Amino acid sequence: MPYPEISRRKFLQYTALGTLASTMPGLSWAENRIMNQDPDKNFKPDVELELYAQNAEVPILPGAHTHVFQYTGKLLKGPAGTLKTLPGYLGPILNFERGQKIRIFFYNQISEPVITHWHGLHVPQKMDGHPMYEILNGERYVYEFEVDNPAATYWYHSHTHEMTATQVYQGLAGLITVRDAAEQKLELPADEYEIPLVIQDRTFTNGNQLHYLHGRHRRMMGFLGDTILVNGQVNHSIPVKTRAYRLRLLNGSNSRIYKLGWDDGTPLTVIGTDGGLLEKPETFPYVMLAPAERVELWMDFSGRKPGSELTMQSLTYKGGGAHMGGMGRMGGMSGGIPQGKSFSIVKFNITEQVGDSPSLPEKLVSIRRLSTQDLTSPAKTVPIEIGMRHMLFQLNDQTFRMYDHQEIERIPVNSIQKIRIFHEGRMGGDRHGGGMGGRRGMGMMGMMLSLPHPIHLHGQQFQIVSRKQNESNSAYDTIKQGFIDKGWKDTILVMPGEDIEIIKPFEDYTGLFLYHCHNLEHEDLGMMRNFEVY
Ligand code: C2O
Ligand code: CU
Ligand code: CU
Repeated sequence: MPYPEISRRKFLQYTALGTLASTMPGLSWAENRIMNQDPDKNFKPDVELELYAQNAEVPILPGAHTHVFQYTGKLLKGPAGTLKTLPGYLGPILNFERGQKIRIFFYNQISEPVITHWHGLHVPQKMDGHPMYEILNGERYVYEFEVDNPAATYWYHSHTHEMTATQVYQGLAGLITVRDAAEQKLELPADEYEIPLVIQDRTFTNGNQLHYLHGRHRRMMGFLGDTILVNGQVNHSIPVKTRAYRLRLLNGSNSRIYKLGWDDGTPLTVIGTDGGLLEKPETFPYVMLAPAERVELWMDFSGRKPGSELTMQSLTYKGGGAHMGGMGRMGGMSGGIPQGKSFSIVKFNITEQVGDSPSLPEKLVSIRRLSTQDLTSPAKTVPIEIGMRHMLFQLNDQTFRMYDHQEIERIPVNSIQKIRIFHEGRMGGDRHGGGMGGRRGMGMMGMMLSLPHPIHLHGQQFQIVSRKQNESNSAYDTIKQGFIDKGWKDTILVMPGEDIEIIKPFEDYTGLFLYHCHNLEHEDLGMMRNFEVY
C-alpha cells in the first residue's frame, strides 16, 4: 500500500478541522482516506441496512434530556428481527446469522470524523473500521462482509483516531448477536427470556449532560464515572419469571472493570465468552468483566418467590489501580466510583410464577481446540509487550501510528501464532522517562504501573493457553477466580505482573489489523498498534 507524503494544503485544511494529532509523522491518512463509498455490484447481500451516527437528545435522568451521539438504523432488506431498537441511547441491536452477507450503508451525521468497527467479527481490513477509514460529516462508508463467526455476542462502536473514548462515551456503541445452527439446536432461552445487558459508567452534570475528564494524566488513569447505566438507563430493574434466562452481558465502559456477582452469593453459570459458547456450562463464584469483554450467563430464577428480588453487583476487588481511592488529590480527579469498589448494577424483580423452565444443557458446542501443535512456526512467539515511556503506555516499545508496523508485527496470512502478552521487565530508569521508582512507589508513575490493561486483538478470536502471575500479590487473590479462560476470546484482561500466552489464527485476510488496550483512554493515547498480515 502506498503512503504518499502529505500535501501541505491538505495538512492545513485538516488541522483547521481541529482533529489532527500533534504527533503527525509526516504523512496523513486524511490525504489518503480510502472511502468505500459505493456498493459492490457483485456482492449479493442477505441483509442490507442503513446505520447513522447522529446527534440525539434522550431521556436518561429525570428532567432535562441528555445530548448524546447515537447510532440509529433502518432495515432495507433481510429478516424482520434484524434490527432491534433499545430504549436509551445505545444503537439498535444487530441480530445476524452466521453465513449472512451483510451490507451496511454507514452515514456520518455528526460534526466529527467517525468510523465504525464490528468488534469481534472476522472481516477484511477494509470492513474492519480501522481509523484510516474515518469519514467526515455528510459522507458515507459502505461495509460489505459475510458473517463468519460462531454464535455469540459481539458489538459495534466508533473507532475514530484519538476519539474512540469520547465518541463511545457519548453513545456510539451497540450490540451484535450472531446465531448459528449449533446454537439453535440447544434451544437456549430466547425472545423475552434472552436479555442483553450493556454495562457502562457515566458522570452527569447538574444539567443532565455527559461529563468527561480532561488532561493527559487523568486520561492515563482512565475514565471512572459515578453513575452505572445498564442498556443506557439508570437504576435499571428487570421483571422476570421463575424460570431460566439467557443473559448477554457486555462491558461497554471506557475503563471500568466489573467483578460480577449475585448479591445472595448464587454462583454464576457461564455459557459463553467473547467469541462463542463454551463446550459446557462452567460455574464461577464471580466473573471479571473488563472493557469490551462479553459473557453469557444462564440464570435460573426457578424456586424464587414472586415479590423477591436479586441484584447483580460489582463486588469489591483490589488491583485495579489500587492507589486511586486512597490518594486525596487523585481521588478528587475523577470523582467517580473508585475501581474495585462495590455497587449494584441491575436488579431482577421476580414478578411471576411459572410452572416450567428449560433445563441447562450439559453440553453446549464443540470447539476447535488450538494447541501448540497447531502453531505454524512452533519456535516463534509474537510479543505484545506492555511498557511505558514519557508517561504514555506503549505496546512493543511504540505508540500508535496510522500505518506503522514493525518487523515483529508482521504475520503471514493463514498462519496460527503463539502470542505472549507481558509487562516490560525493568522498572525505573530512562525507559520510563522519569525514574520514579517501581510499582510500589508512590506518585503518578507508581499508580500507572499498577493499572490493568484489557488487551484486544482484531480479526479472529483466540484461545488462552496460560496465565502466570509473576508477583506474589494479595490483590490478585481478589480477582483470580473470575477469569474464563476456556472459550474464544478477543479481549483479555492483563493484570499487573501477569504473563499470558494465547494462540490466535490469522486466516483469510491480509492487511492491517489493530491490537490495542481497550481501556479507551489508553487506546486514544496511543496504546494501539497494527499487525500487518501479509
Ligand atoms: Cu472494540 Cu479496536 O475495538
Ligand atoms: Cu475489535
Ligand atoms: Cu491500558
